[in-house]
Amino acid sequence: MKNFTYCTPTRYVFGAGAENEAGKEAAAIGVKRVLTVYGGGSAVRSGVLDRVRASLAAAGIESIELGGIEPNPLDGPVREGIELCRSNNIDGILAVGGGSVIDTAKAIALGVPYSGDFWDFYSGKSIPAEALPVGVVLTIPAAGSEGSGNSVITLAKDKIKISLRTDYVLRPKFALLNPELTYTLPPYQTASGIADMMAHIMERYFTPTPDVEITDRVSEGILKAIIGEARKVMENPEDYQARANIMWSGTLAHNGICGTGRREDWASHAIEHEISAMYNVTHGAGLAVIFPAWMTFMAQRAPGKIAQFARRVFDVSNPDDSAAALEGIQCLKAFFGSIGLPVTFAELGVPQPDIDEMVRRLHINKGEAIGGYLTLRAEDTAEIYRLAL
Ligand code: NZQ
Ligand code: ZN
Repeated sequence: MKNFTYCTPTRYVFGAGAENEAGKEAAAIGVKRVLTVYGGGSAVRSGVLDRVRASLAAAGIESIELGGIEPNPLDGPVREGIELCRSNNIDGILAVGGGSVIDTAKAIALGVPYSGDFWDFYSGKSIPAEALPVGVVLTIPAAGSEGSGNSVITLAKDKIKISLRTDYVLRPKFALLNPELTYTLPPYQTASGIADMMAHIMERYFTPTPDVEITDRVSEGILKAIIGEARKVMENPEDYQARANIMWSGTLAHNGICGTGRREDWASHAIEHEISAMYNVTHGAGLAVIFPAWMTFMAQRAPGKIAQFARRVFDVSNPDDSAAALEGIQCLKAFFGSIGLPVTFAELGVPQPDIDEMVRRLHINKGEAIGGYLTLRAEDTAEIYRLAL
């Protein structure tokens, strides 16, 4: 196990009605004027936005709003939000939604106290040092942004999707998680969220670092629980306990606990981000296509950890590592298929992906060599895209 520092300062309030704590939680961290950010309408239709407004008002917190954030969020609304905050003396941001809304809120929070263009942080020109406090009312368990220090934004003019990673600056101060809010999710979004949270664990699980039994077992346990609860949630979307287990899994998958003490991989995310940037597909569905392809590539070159995954998560008994790895990949694909997810580009709705262009962009955006499990260069990532055809 490697040395590490782990700090996850987010305060979580979990359970039915959690959104009604928004005002109290914001007041507790000294926020007086908040920008509430939300998406394309689900938060309005479900009534959660009204309850959040009432909660803020009851705590004496003034609020202005920025709605209409789209999936795979773009830089335009971030700039709009920064201006709104500056002209209204806003001192905190509240995200009501999923990863796209939360990541936009985080980008706004970074941009307000910064004199340059907020994109400087995403392009690597500036290192984040301060941000307005961000609170979250989560409506979809998927991206894990409610507990992560990351924010993923796409620069519209070049379709460059960048994941900015910070240790602490962008971790939400509080996150309110009410599983009932997820009853209204379309099945495809529920399933895509499940693939995304599994991928967040697997990016950390597939590591070259030896002797990480504790994080391996934590990861395998959460993965097995997700697979079991996922089946229940797909069958009965209003199963509170299954929704609750899935919601908390999404946070545990990405708040860093599964990565402690080891090198992480993240190649599949980098490879997928080029797909969702170019074709605007749902991130988790893109991962359901790419992760098995990445694992197939690895099964031929470094099967050890893929075989362990197959044996411990899917109870594969084959004693040969490569064969066990391939069986495990089939199990994973079958699971994704069983909850209505695509496992090929064609099923994803991209029958003829421009692989050369994605590979070119990937290595411009993320560097010549990517991945922590095995280092991948352009010829390797091209092969992984082809394996997903
Ligand atoms: O916009 P509305 O109308 O709210 O609809 C959304 C959206 O269409 C809908 N939705 C959300 N909650 C709902 C609901 N519909 C009905 N009922 C509800 N309760 O779901 C759709 C997807 O929302 P989105 O916020 O895009 O989902 P997700 O949480 O999957 O976020 C995806 C984004 O996060 C990034 C992804 O790349 C992508 O841009 N990621 C962010 C990460 C981070 N910050 O740590 C890590 C991830 O790996 C990921 O890359
Ligand atoms: Zn993800």
